[in-house]
Amino acid sequence: MSRRQVLAGAGGTGLLAATAGPAKAATRTRRARAGGAGTPEQIHLTWGESPATGVVVSWASPSQASRPRVRIGQRVIPAEARPYTDGINGETVWTYHARVGGLRPGATYGYTVTADNDGNAADPFSATFRTAPHGRTPFRFTSFGDLATPNTSWVLSYGQSAYAVEAVESFQPLFHLLNGDLCYADLNPAVQPEVWRDFGNNNQSSAANRPWMPCPGNHEVEFANGPQGFTSYLTRYTLPDNRVPGFGGRWYSFRIGSVLFVSLDADDVVYQDAGAFVAGPEPLTPLPGTGHPPIEPGTSFYLRGYSGGTQTAWLERTLAAGRRDESVDWIIAQMHQCAASSSATGNGSDLGVRAEWLPLFDRYQVDLVLSGHDHDYERSFPVRGADPDAGHEVADGAVVNTLRPHPVTTTDSGVFDTSQGTVHLILGCGGTDAPLDEYGTDTADGQRQAKVFTRANRPAPTATPGVYSRAPADAVEDAIWSARRDTTTGYGIAVFDVDPGAEAGGQTSITVTQYHAPGADPVNPATGAKGAPTPDYTEFETFRLVRRRR
Ligand SMILES: [Fe+2]
Repeated sequence: MSRRQVLAGAGGTGLLAATAGPAKAATRTRRARAGGAGTPEQIHLTWGESPATGVVVSWASPSQASRPRVRIGQRVIPAEARPYTDGINGETVWTYHARVGGLRPGATYGYTVTADNDGNAADPFSATFRTAPHGRTPFRFTSFGDLATPNTSWVLSYGQSAYAVEAVESFQPLFHLLNGDLCYADLNPAVQPEVWRDFGNNNQSSAANRPWMPCPGNHEVEFANGPQGFTSYLTRYTLPDNRVPGFGGRWYSFRIGSVLFVSLDADDVVYQDAGAFVAGPEPLTPLPGTGHPPIEPGTSFYLRGYSGGTQTAWLERTLAAGRRDESVDWIIAQMHQCAASSSATGNGSDLGVRAEWLPLFDRYQVDLVLSGHDHDYERSFPVRGADPDAGHEVADGAVVNTLRPHPVTTTDSGVFDTSQGTVHLILGCGGTDAPLDEYGTDTADGQRQAKVFTRANRPAPTATPGVYSRAPADAVEDAIWSARRDTTTGYGIAVFDVDPGAEAGGQTSITVTQYHAPGADPVNPATGAKGAPTPDYTEFETFRLVRRRR
C-alpha cells in the first residue's frame, strides 16, 4: 500500500484522496499501540495566561489513562482528559492537560508525567523547564513553521524535521514559536492521528523542556474534525485564553518581559484556498463508524471570514492595549500565511492579510511579523503603508491593487528602527520534504517579483474528468519590499535575543540570527545537487531591530 499521494497545485497545497483505506490504517494502529495503555507520550509544554508563574503540560496516551497527573516537587496536579474521535478513520485519541500555576518567575522546575496504567510507572517521564522572567529581562526565543515529521511514510514528512527539533534545543531558548503547518495530517487523511503522533513524539525532545507556541496553518484544517477542522490541533494544545466565546485556541496573546506576542489564525482572512481538499477522482470516504458521508471530489474546506470579523476586532483591542501599556516595548505577531513572500515555487503573498491586518500593524507599530507557509527564508525591509495599483493580473496584465507593502527604506543596513516600519520574516523552513527556496524575478525589468492572491482560488475542474485543482496566485507585483532571501536551502531556524535596554528613553533591541542547513534540500533547485537531512545549522545572516525603550 502506498501512502504517498499525488500533490496537486503550487506549494504542495493540493490533495488527492488517500489511496490507503481507513480500515486498514486503523488495524495497523491498534497493533502498534497494543500494551501502551496510559503511558504518556507526545509530551509538550505551552504557556498559560501567565508565563512567569506557570506552564501547561499536555500529552497523549495510546488508550485511556487512569488518574493522569503531573508531579512537580511535592505537588500532584491532576490532568484534564480531552479525548476526541478522528472524523475520517474513527480512531479515538486520548489527550491530557495539566495546568501548573503558582511558580516563581525565571525559575527552573523538574516535573514528571504519569498515570496509574503508565507502562513506565516505575520510572516515569521526567524533564525540566524554566518559567518566564518577570519585568524587563533579556531572553531568547526561536521560530520556524512547516515542520512535518521525520516519518517519511507520510506526505510532506522528511528527516530534517528531527534535526530541526534538535536545533531548537541547541539554542536553549525560553520558548519556541511554531508558525503553523505543524505536520500535514490533512494530506494523509486516512491516518491523521498517526501523523500527529509522529509529530508529537518528534517534538517532545524539545517541547517537553520549553513551551512551543503554535498558530494554525492551512494544513491544520481537516475534514470532519470540527467547525474549522481544528479538532486535532485544538485538542492537543492548551493555549492562552483569548476570552472570545466559540473561538478559543484559534488566536491568543501572551507577554514575556517587555514583549507582547500575538498569535493569529490567518486562515480567517486569506483569499487563498489551501486547507483540506479532495482533488478526485475518488471521493474521500470516512470509515462507516464515524457517521460522516463521503467527501466528494472538488470539495475544499475554505475558512475565509469564519470569525465574522471577531478575530480582527480582538486583534485591534489587543494591539491598542499593548501600545497603551508602558511596560510593553515590542509587539511581535505570529501567523502562518504571508503578507510579503516572493517565493516562486510556493504560495506567495496574500491580499487578505494585507487588507485586514497590515493597517492595524501600521497603526500600532507592530515590530515584527513571523510567518511560514512558503518553505524558505525571506526578510522584508521595514514596511509601512501600501503602494496602490502596483500589481498586474497574471492572466492579462491588467493593473490590480495588491496593496503592496511600502518599504520605508531599501538600504540593507542590518539595523532597523521598527517604530518606523514592520519587518516581515518568512520562516517556513522547518522540516518538510518540499523546500521552496526559489524566488521570483520579473523578466521585464529584472526586479524581484512576488505572486499575490487577490481572490479565492476555489477548486475548478481540470481536463481529467472528476479531477479538480486550485489555481496558483492570480496577480504579481515587483517585490521592492524584499530585502534578503536564502537561495542555499529551504531549511533553517531563526534565533531572537531580546535586550530590554538599560533605562527609559534608551534603546532596546532584538538581535535576529537566521541559521540554515545547507545541503539539506533533497534536490537544490539552483544547482540540481542532491542533498540529505543534516544536523549542521550554520549562520546565514544577523540583523538587529531597535526602538526606543518606554
Ligand atoms: Fe501552509
